[in-house]
Amino acid sequence: TRVALIFGGRSGEHSISAATAAGVMKAIDREAYDVLPIGISREGEWVLASGDGSQWQLGGASLPEITTESGTAIESLAEAGPVDVVFPLLHGPYGEDGTIQGLLELAGVPYVGAGVLASAVGMDKQYMKLVFAGHGLPVAPYVVVKPREWEQRPSRVIDRVQAELVFPVFVKPARAGSSLGVTRVDDLTGLADAIEEARYHDPKVLVEQGVDGREIECAVLGGRGGAAPRASVPGEIVVDHDADVFYDFDAKYAASSTARTEAPADLPDDVAERVRELAVEAFEAIGAEGLSRVDVFVTSAGDVILNEINTMPGFTPISMYSKMWEATGVPYTELVSELIELARE
Ligand code: DAL
Ligand code: MG
Repeated sequence: TRVALIFGGRSGEHSISAATAAGVMKAIDREAYDVLPIGISREGEWVLASGDGSQWQLGGASLPEITTESGTAIESLAEAGPVDVVFPLLHGPYGEDGTIQGLLELAGVPYVGAGVLASAVGMDKQYMKLVFAGHGLPVAPYVVVKPREWEQRPSRVIDRVQAELVFPVFVKPARAGSSLGVTRVDDLTGLADAIEEARYHDPKVLVEQGVDGREIECAVLGGRGGAAPRASVPGEIVVDHDADVFYDFDAKYAASSTARTEAPADLPDDVAERVRELAVEAFEAIGAEGLSRVDVFVTSAGDVILNEINTMPGFTPISMYSKMWEATGVPYTELVSELIELARE
């Protein structure tokens, strides 16, 4: 079976995608699969990548980068030769958002993960929340900041945030990942700057009510061929609050990070069960397939509130998606095989 891994790409999560690919290239069962590594540069050029992927692991002096020097330039997927399954390991816009999924649908090539609609909904935090709320799932209050409103009536936006939300709030680009462009804002003075910062990543911005709770995640797998999706044991992100304000880009990926992850999370059984149920409900609400990581908050009262779903979660060896499956009894290599086989169903 020939499996094309597509990674890098035009989003702000380019380097994380390359690290994800390094992880999968290391773990994939080479006896079962012929691997075709296809990188996309930040400018959108496609290359048939050389090397075994180890050059893109995190932990070096700089973040990994795919350029035209990373291999042989190709003009199209067809030029890479016949492919049985594509594993689109792309994070963020132009990859995790339905665009490459649409291309692969048109080309008639099976691919790992969510389809066009679920990918697009999972990428856009406004529509993600509308779909969750429409299914009766718990989400925190938020305010959407559309480009025209911010440019013409910024005071109205500020008034709305004050009227509808309580500080601290988190200001986020609607379509981005890995916490890029996300700022925690503790009072009104920081709000406008935070919105401008988020707008650098996406003209549409969300201001979300901060939830006082533990950051818990859950991995979902399956959801094709009539079988019910399975949820992993939940994991936890433990951030050192003296050093890091929240689990931002550096806390996630910098070598100096003090953030820790724990799987399984130390939760009462009934709360863990509620997290797993809600993760599957969120997965089904957006119509996801293959895999997703669902991020939630667990309050001190034991309430579980959805933060977001990621249809192509980080897949580096230190990433929560693979760690939570390992803790559930599914080793990384087996997980990759299962995802590829699900795509062929
Ligand atoms: N967007 C990053 C890769 C994640 O959710 O893991
Ligand atoms: Mg995300």
